[in-house]
Amino acid sequence: MNGKPALSGKTALVTGGSRGIGAEVARRLGAEDAAIAIAYRSDKASADRVVEDLKAAGARACAFAADISCPEDCERLVRECIEIFGRLDILVNAAGVATYRPLEQADADHYHAMFATNVLGALSVTRAVATVMETPGRIVHFSSRLAESPMPGTSVYAASKAAVSALTLALSQELGPRGITINAIAPGLIETDMTAAAVRERGDAMRSRTPLRRIGQPGDISGLVAFLASDDAGWITGRTIRADGGLL
Ligand SMILES: NC(=O)c1ccc[n+]([C@@H]2O[C@H](COP(=O)([O-])OP(=O)(O)OC[C@H]3O[C@@H](n4cnc5c(N)ncnc54)[C@H](OP(=O)(O)O)[C@@H]3O)[C@@H](O)[C@H]2O)c1
Repeated sequence: MNGKPALSGKTALVTGGSRGIGAEVARRLGAEDAAIAIAYRSDKASADRVVEDLKAAGARACAFAADISCPEDCERLVRECIEIFGRLDILVNAAGVATYRPLEQADADHYHAMFATNVLGALSVTRAVATVMETPGRIVHFSSRLAESPMPGTSVYAASKAAVSALTLALSQELGPRGITINAIAPGLIETDMTAAAVRERGDAMRSRTPLRRIGQPGDISGLVAFLASDDAGWITGRTIRADGGLL
């Protein structure tokens, strides 16, 4: 604690950085003086807005298009980040998809769509980054509260996020000796594009069931990411940390 921003001199890649939690994470890591690479799939306008915000706040920033469900895109993404920034110290893999379907509609297409981005995507970005990452390195994945406390209809999404937690724990065993920590955050309901319908339909019920009596916001998660990305979190690895306002 010397008053210096926590991430000066570091470069962070934030997938899913164009919207929602990832966009707020990018802004927060930028405020801690990291240079920021954000990756997005298709929403270039939103990605460009986040980059402009970051630059206006004094951070180095650049946006890259990549579909993380495609391993070749992940390798290209990391090559391009290194070309532009010269180094990668932090990976935050916030890109994710969530659609909920009851068992009768939970077919192979649904399964492949959830697992291709949420699981293969997290694996592929981590695999591409790990070979070039500076040490100490920091990786943060996104699991979900639903992995441990699912609701009816969320089976495939919940399974994909449980897989992210398992991946995180198993990879910590391989990455630890290389000086890289890897953790996952399991948010409860956070108000973003992904959850707009859920907030509309269940917002009041969630608010009253949540000890902190409100709906989570992206800023409730970005500070935790900044901590896990900092030198202060160097003794935490392999864990999934729940951040859900105390909801049981
Ligand atoms: N919001 C919640 O309540 C909640 C709760 C638990 C866990 N989570 C997890 O937290 C993470 C962020 O969620 P969010 O609510 O911020 O989501 P969001 O608002 O829907 O944003 C999703 C982001 O992921 C990107 N993305 C999606 N699929 C991609 C792909 N195949 N390749 C590259 N980028 C892709 C999107 O890019 P484009 O804009 O280009 O489409 C966008 O930037 C996700 O992993 C989600 O599962 C969220």
